[in-house]
Amino acid sequence: MDPDPLFSPHLTTFTITGEEVDGLIIGPLASLVVTIGATVPVQPPSVFPVCNSTDCPIFTGTKYTTTDTFLLNATLPPSYEIVLTIGNLNSSSPQMLFLNNEILACAMATITSS
Ligand SMILES: *[C@@H]1O[C@H](CO)[C@@H](O)[C@H](O)[C@H]1NC(C)=O
Ligand SMILES: *[C@@H]1O[C@H](CO)[C@@H](O)[C@H](O)[C@H]1NC(C)=O
Ligand SMILES: *[C@@H]1O[C@H](CO)[C@@H](O)[C@H](O)[C@H]1NC(C)=O
Repeated sequence: MDPDPLFSPHLTTFTITGEEVDGLIIGPLASLVVTIGATVPVQPPSVFPVCNSTDCPIFTGTKYTTTDTFLLNATLPPSYEIVLTIGNLNSSSPQMLFLNNEILACAMATITSS
């Protein structure tokens, strides 16, 4: 992530690299969702497509990289979590939930003040 550690307000970029190994195909609905928060998100989660018209779909065994840049402008609490999830967005869900609540990939970091 950049900047590391995060600070606000700042344009913030997460770059993730992965390889799907479960036989699932990453299609146009697959989105990377970045949520920063303590008990509740400090600002609405940032949502970016994992693949685009040139490299979609991504088949199992193919390494992929995706980048999510957004403006972090909320006040960061002393301790917070950074949660990255990938799933197929349910377009009829107002809360931007994933289809069948299925998370295809995830990563999490906890930042604690010292
Ligand atoms: C599609 O994504 C790839 C890698 O994620 C990137 O290199 C390429 O520039 C993107 N193309 C477009 C049209 O956004
Ligand atoms: C933070 O950014 C969002 C989206 O760009 C904007 O709607 C909002 O007004 C900004 N809030 C502050 C406090 O700057
Ligand atoms: C998508 O979201 C709608 C509205 O919340 C819900 O009724 C539906 O069951 C969801 N579909 C799936 C496949 O998760």
